[in-house]
Amino acid sequence: MRLRNVKNKEEILNNSPFLIRNSSDYLGKWKELFNNSNPIYIEIGMGKGDFIIENAIKNPDINFIGIEKFDSVIARACEKVPADLKNLILVRMDALDIDKAFNKEIDRIYLNFSDPWPKKRHADRRLTSHIFLNKYDSIFKNKKEIIQKTDNQSLFEYSIISLSTYGYIIEDISFDLHNSGKENIIMTEYEKKFTSKGNNIYYLIATKK
Ligand SMILES: C[S@@+](CC[C@H](N)C(=O)[O-])C[C@H]1O[C@@H](n2cnc3c(N)ncnc32)[C@H](O)[C@@H]1O
Repeated sequence: MRLRNVKNKEEILNNSPFLIRNSSDYLGKWKELFNNSNPIYIEIGMGKGDFIIENAIKNPDINFIGIEKFDSVIARACEKVPADLKNLILVRMDALDIDKAFNKEIDRIYLNFSDPWPKKRHADRRLTSHIFLNKYDSIFKNKKEIIQKTDNQSLFEYSIISLSTYGYIIEDISFDLHNSGKENIIMTEYEKKFTSKGNNIYYLIATKK
């Protein structure tokens, strides 16, 4: 993602009622923060938040947490959240610390258009590497469920292998999501951009007991 500095980002972040920057303080306590026991779905690398905000509006009985590592990007998401939305929290953190923020509390992870890290020596940084899958083990409540969308064929192929060799079952897969007959697809910023250029969107649902 091209990063534009948002000049008033500190002011936006300090005033947002949706933002958390000290995520480890809430380890094991996210349910209390939402004040209910509804399932919790997270999106790692949510960018400017279009996908998770629309999801939260359409699914009031699910709690959503959007994770993003850059202040300038998450500030844009903070500005978009409707003031009366009760089931969405935005968290500024690096996914590398995800196992310090959640403990057996998460029901689903969305990975949308994650950075592909094309160089082999950076493979561990991909959000579907075994390094990250190992961290996710401790944040999932019961059944583990990862839903991935990407336009990057190499990342998609890598993810299929990485998830499968880690014990995940690929429950659903599409190599052209927008011509797959699936309806009511909630699009991310990147997805809107790539589909308008005619790029295929790759999609999978992977689960592990
Ligand atoms: C290519 S953008 C995709 C944004 C959005 N998901 C979409 O589909 O439009 C990837 C995003 O993931 C964030 N990101 C990358 N690595 C991350 C990490 N380790 N922890 C948290 N966010 C990360 C980046 O800052 C960027 O905003």
